[in-house]
Amino acid sequence: MAQSEKEIISQEMSDSPFAVAQTVSPSGRILTEEELKALHNDKILVSNFKQMKLEKEAQKNWDLFYKRNTTNFFKDRHWTTREFEELKACRKFESQKLVLLEAGCGVGNCIFPLLEEDLNVFIYACDFSPRAVEFVKQNPLYSPERCCAFQCDLTKDDLRDQIPENSVDVITLIFVLSAIHPDKMKQALENISRVVKPGGVVLFRDYGLYDHAMLRFKAGNKLGDNFYVRQDGTRSYFFSKEFLAELFESAGFQFITNDYVLRKTVNKKEGLCVPRVFLQSKFTKNSLVLTSSTHQ
Ligand SMILES: C[S@@+](CC[C@H](N)C(=O)[O-])C[C@H]1O[C@@H](n2cnc3c(N)ncnc32)[C@H](O)[C@@H]1O
Repeated sequence: MAQSEKEIISQEMSDSPFAVAQTVSPSGRILTEEELKALHNDKILVSNFKQMKLEKEAQKNWDLFYKRNTTNFFKDRHWTTREFEELKACRKFESQKLVLLEAGCGVGNCIFPLLEEDLNVFIYACDFSPRAVEFVKQNPLYSPERCCAFQCDLTKDDLRDQIPENSVDVITLIFVLSAIHPDKMKQALENISRVVKPGGVVLFRDYGLYDHAMLRFKAGNKLGDNFYVRQDGTRSYFFSKEFLAELFESAGFQFITNDYVLRKTVNKKEGLCVPRVFLQSKFTKNSLVLTSSTHQ
């Protein structure tokens, strides 16, 4: 991965996932004519053969990512007071232990700050990269009484093999769905839907449409609409709020909040102020959704 691309990705991940010092925008980023033209002119897609290879090797590519970067790439996400309040609000009574699932946990940058704050939570954490899961388990803050990390491909492996059905209060999906092929995102959401309680919530943060990282992709990296591949073979989708709402609704969720977050980041290396766009959303599982086993 080119140094500047690495910097951009690592910067985006260094902030708190639900930080407040950002502009919340219902309409997202407005592009200039020039930017729109450049996006429009990028029409040539990566060949089908290469696309199939990328899909087949998705897990391997992320595992190699963690082999190269170990635990040094993403910074810990320290949760703000507001996020804590959101988590606390998920409790029915004050002393209730919340059960969380961090789906696509990487090396645990989201979960360890939470465990450190000791929020009276039990955290399930899964990722399809065996190396990432191993890093989570090796973290000094990891303890089986407080968390359970396991390997799982969200698009293939039934989460109920590890987590009781309808038992999770809060699921966090932080920069994970963007790494999954759009054709398989619904499967991943249906999978998490089986373990979250009816009325439980999903906290989502990921790349938003027209994020700076999307506009930086050079010709030859486009896989489809709003979908690109990085030099290391990992892929990234850029979400519009309409696409995301439809996707979650098709998997039995309804949205509570769904907004773009616009943020200016200083790229020290390039001496530029770059416009970042994230999509930050909260969904709840419809109480009437029937899981597959309740049909049987
Ligand atoms: C950008 S990282 C985010 C990690 C973590 N959520 C965080 O906030 O630090 C994306 C993670 O998603 C994982 N991932 C991608 N596709 C997955 C899938 N189908 N099933 C499970 N994990 C997946 C990758 O291995 C990677 O660790």
